[in-house]
Amino acid sequence: MKQEKEIIYFITGNNHKFKEITKLFQKEELDYDLKQKTAATIEIQASNIKEVALFKLNSVKTNFNNSYFVEDAGFFIDVPLKGFPGVYSKFVLNTIGNEGILKLINDYWNTAAHFEAVIALYFQPLDKIFIFEGSVEGKVSKEIKGTSGFGYDPIFIPNELPNNTFAELSTEEKNSVSHRAKAWQKLLIFLKAHH
Ligand code: IMP
Repeated sequence: MKQEKEIIYFITGNNHKFKEITKLFQKEELDYDLKQKTAATIEIQASNIKEVALFKLNSVKTNFNNSYFVEDAGFFIDVPLKGFPGVYSKFVLNTIGNEGILKLINDYWNTAAHFEAVIALYFQPLDKIFIFEGSVEGKVSKEIKGTSGFGYDPIFIPNELPNNTFAELSTEEKNSVSHRAKAWQKLLIFLKAHH
């Protein structure tokens, strides 16, 4: 008889994030079923993304007996904003938005930026927490471009695909270079190794 696959939950209310991870998940032969779960979590204001992700993971109250993970990301404009908005990414997007960001850096030709993603996993078989990180380097575009993706995607141009913003790429293309996909690849290696 075929054994039921274990469920692993991605705890997120962000359907874009779930779609990106699902596409990556489907490319692999894994002994897991990936499911989305929205749960009440606490998002603290900390000095780095890792702390935010860890606190969020620990704030999940589960009534299931499975492995689960959360993911937190941030957008860092290294030049000229010295990493801002970083851990304030959500607040800044919800207040001044991408237009406000472009106004802030309008006078600069160098606009080096990167995304960071941290996946925090509760791995049920070992009853332990594991962290997986990924980042992508690029720059802020001169204008808002593209309609796919979410958040800062319309103003971020990755170095590896320098002709488009993230929002002009398909999910597969974004996944080929993104911070989230890189963190995911590490989680994947972990899951395969701990089977
Ligand atoms: P979160 O706390 O991980 O949801 O993300 C913090 C902020 O960064 C939110 O405003 C998101 O919209 C934005 N963000 C997170 N990941 C991405 C991404 O992959 N592309 C663009 N914006 C993102």
